[in-house]
Amino acid sequence: EKGGYEHFMLKEIFEQPKSVHDTMRGRLLVDEGVIKMAGIWDHIERFKNANRIIIIACGTSWHAGLIGEYLIEEYARIPVEVEYASEFRYRNPIITDKDVVIAISQSGETADTMAALKLAKEKGAFIYGICNVVDSSIARITDAGSYTHAGPEIGVASTKAFTAQLTILTLIAFKLGKHNGNLGNADFMSLIAELDAIPKRIEDVLSSTHELVQNIAKDFVGATNFLYLGRGYNYPAALEGALKLKEISYIHAEGYPAAEMKHGPIALIDENMPIVIIAPKKGHYDKIVSNVQEIKARKGKIIAVVNRGDTQVSAMADYVIEIPETSECFSPIVASVPLQLLAYYIAVYRGANVDQPRNLAKSVTVE
Ligand code: M6R
Repeated sequence: EKGGYEHFMLKEIFEQPKSVHDTMRGRLLVDEGVIKMAGIWDHIERFKNANRIIIIACGTSWHAGLIGEYLIEEYARIPVEVEYASEFRYRNPIITDKDVVIAISQSGETADTMAALKLAKEKGAFIYGICNVVDSSIARITDAGSYTHAGPEIGVASTKAFTAQLTILTLIAFKLGKHNGNLGNADFMSLIAELDAIPKRIEDVLSSTHELVQNIAKDFVGATNFLYLGRGYNYPAALEGALKLKEISYIHAEGYPAAEMKHGPIALIDENMPIVIIAPKKGHYDKIVSNVQEIKARKGKIIAVVNRGDTQVSAMADYVIEIPETSECFSPIVASVPLQLLAYYIAVYRGANVDQPRNLAKSVTVE
């Protein structure tokens, strides 16, 4: 059932062109210039009148939520807060019937997420679910929702579910923005055309970076620490890259907004510190260039994820992974793919049990 791949995780990484396509199927109608999402449309007044949207999740799904915040605030101009389910539920949060809660969960069984939703529901919030597992507990208690349709995810490290979650959040942001007038028609049309081509971009990245990333991984089998840095939309992508590495390879890794480096983590940088930096052209590129200069001056080992044709960051990097250029909002989807591969191969070369890492369960049904 691994389809010829050595692990489910690798199979699932390679399934992403298809899974992202499946997530959009029947929803993104590019020729008609329409995003069809019954769950949103049937409750459009709730979204329109929402004071704010609160996104609740754990782990990788929480990282997707952070990107959802950037998307929804940028394109629909609705205030968004992103909460760890476990923190939200225990801190007596302010919730009203004017709030819309979006729950993100691959398994639909995460205990903390479930409990947070029950609390929000009691207080009258409208609950929207983004789940992968059909008819799961979380899917059942929501008022409406969209399944990600990524297909079963077996590897404990979430990969294709994450990019599917990002796809749904993108569709929601564009749909709400189009409806409330914050996203003009011309921009909407060009963004949806670009979204429609994302499965092809992922395919491109898989074939153009697979071997290269495998080789890079060989040089970091003995690493004990990693930093992942990004700005804007790619800050959560950095968090996600770090989580992937730590959970399957057991190498300590931290993700940071690149500009936060100077507020502490820069003290860690020396010739033994590998630093993955996500630096696509669109999205604070000049700022990233100066962050990279600071790292270079301290001899950190730089693995840069850049757009094809990049010169400035590439000239300073020890390793360069090229991805195609996209609008900023799509770059976490495309940039995450080589980072998944990097974590995967480092773990494989360390002899780790990639699909079932120690101490972890696929769905965390304990609190
Ligand atoms: O099933 P969920 O999306 O609710 O799971 C949330 C986290 O437990 C999950 O994303 C976890 O962080 C993954 N193992 C990350 O790869």
